[in-house]
Amino acid sequence: MSLTGLFLISFLVIHCIINATIFFDDGGKTFNKFAHFMGTNVIIRTMEIVLFAGLLLHIIDGLLIYFQNKKARPIQYVKENAAASSKWYSRSMAILGTLILLFLVMHMYHFWLRSRITGLTILDTHHIYDGHTYENMYGEMKFIFTNLWVVVIYVLGCISLFWHLLHGFKSAFQSLGFNHHKYKHAIAFSGDAFSIIISAIFASMPIAMYLGWIA
Ligand code: HEM
Repeated sequence: MSLTGLFLISFLVIHCIINATIFFDDGGKTFNKFAHFMGTNVIIRTMEIVLFAGLLLHIIDGLLIYFQNKKARPIQYVKENAAASSKWYSRSMAILGTLILLFLVMHMYHFWLRSRITGLTILDTHHIYDGHTYENMYGEMKFIFTNLWVVVIYVLGCISLFWHLLHGFKSAFQSLGFNHHKYKHAIAFSGDAFSIIISAIFASMPIAMYLGWIA
């Protein structure tokens, strides 16, 4: 669970950095070039299969742990004060993960399925930079984020991601044995900072496009 989680975290970092180029205020040129590279490079396309396999393993592992925990205590406590020893989001990883998965189904339909599988993007527009033709994924993104409901669902997805990471980041290191008191606090701080920063940057993308902050 921790290894697949950390692998997915490394994907989120790359995905977030590449997507953040939409803020370069260059009409999407840098982002479109990156999207083209990510969609055509053989190594990246192979890594895409590894990514989906990692995601699947993470989900299967999560479900196994969830049902193991349920089986371990078939009869619930009469009086339980779970809040005394754990945070609500630590006890809600399965539901938070499910919300992220629901968001991902919509997200894959919006971008990945259309640009990487069917090739049928909504706008089907292209830009020519330095003599090469690039699919206008930036324009596609802007169009998709003109719908307020889509923006709301994306922001809710990012909020679920925030809570999921807030527990998951620290927990992954703990499961791998990195819980020595010397660096425990540094890991906890990095986990909190990472969860806030990555979720806020992701959420700012649909919001900025919807509100027209980026042209
Ligand atoms: C909220 C802001 C986000 C935006 C604007 C965004 C945008 C995109 C775009 C444009 C693509 C397709 C790239 C292409 O086909 O060329 C993509 C792919 C993808 N996104 Fe996102 N994304 C966001 C957040 C997320 C989050 C939070 C996750 C995971 C929890 C995620 C997971 C993925 C995955 C798994 C793919 C497919 C991977 C691949 O094909 O390499 N995205 N995203």
